[in-house]
Amino acid sequence: MSDPIVVAEGLHKSFGGAHALRGLDLTVPAGTVCGLLGPNGAGKTTAVRILATLSDPDAGHARVAGYDVVREAGKVRERIGLAGQYAAVDDKLTGRGNLRMFGRLSHLSRREAHRRAGELLDRFGLTDAADRQVAGYSGGMRRRLDLITCLILRPEVLFLDEPTTGLDPRSRGEIWDSIRELVADGTTVLLTTQYLDEADRLADDIAVVDHGRVVATGTPDELKATIGDRLDVTLEDPAALPAATAALNALTGTEPTTTGAGRLSVALPGGRLRLADVVRELDHAGVAAADVSLRRPTLDEVFLRLTDRQETAL
Ligand SMILES: Nc1ncnc2c1ncn2[C@@H]1O[C@H](COP(=O)(O)OP(=O)(O)O)[C@@H](O)[C@H]1O
Ligand SMILES: [Mg+2]
Repeated sequence: MSDPIVVAEGLHKSFGGAHALRGLDLTVPAGTVCGLLGPNGAGKTTAVRILATLSDPDAGHARVAGYDVVREAGKVRERIGLAGQYAAVDDKLTGRGNLRMFGRLSHLSRREAHRRAGELLDRFGLTDAADRQVAGYSGGMRRRLDLITCLILRPEVLFLDEPTTGLDPRSRGEIWDSIRELVADGTTVLLTTQYLDEADRLADDIAVVDHGRVVATGTPDELKATIGDRLDVTLEDPAALPAATAALNALTGTEPTTTGAGRLSVALPGGRLRLADVVRELDHAGVAAADVSLRRPTLDEVFLRLTDRQETAL
């Protein structure tokens, strides 16, 4: 594994009486995509703002690209880019105009800013729209432009706070392609998301955040493995639901959730149970099953488990 380029240890942050972060730890190896996955209010934006030097932690430390985010904030800023949830581009300028302006604000020469703008527009498929006013851009194009303005200075680490929230599926796909493109260049990406499929598709590693702490880390597959397999049962007669629930509860030690009329789902501890045991147990309880199947959990199920949300929310 390459050296970590983002390291956070025990970050705490409160706003008045509200604890946004309660000891957040995070390590991101260079050249990877880390997905900070958590529900609304989990503390994702607060963590990103601290790592991007926009806010100081109350306690704890963090280093980004080798520098302390509080004591060496200037050094950190020279090495990072940040795209927030709301695109920060100027509507009245063209796409190219925005990039040139950011380039000039970043102290590039006029010529270099122009060259870099053209290069980025080309690379990220915005050349056709480059000379149109941003006011006429779609939400996805605007977000993509915002993302590439962060690349003017070739940051080592790019923070993307909910890069696709509110976008239609096609625009989301385009942003995902742009992010993959970035990583191919060696940029380390820390992205926050509430979308499991986004973390699943883009992230090498996921850190699940809840109530201001990281509650689990791993690859998507590792996270799925932590909660064991799922058992889905469809009953021949929905009226047998109470009997089936009791039988599955006795067998697995977990209360099954009802997922539809005559349909139940339950997590299997450690995956030691065989399908034959399940069928026999239901048989003993006088329950006829139309279908019994074992499967890997979805990332949604992992997420709900880890963040203590009700499984019935699925
Ligand atoms: N500037 C602020 N003032 C007061 N409370 C805040 C502020 N920023 C965040 N919070 C609170 O801290 C918690 C974490 O927020 P945030 O980091 O924005 O979560 P997320 O990005 O995961 O949705 C929330 O309860 C939020 O209301
Ligand atoms: Mg947020």
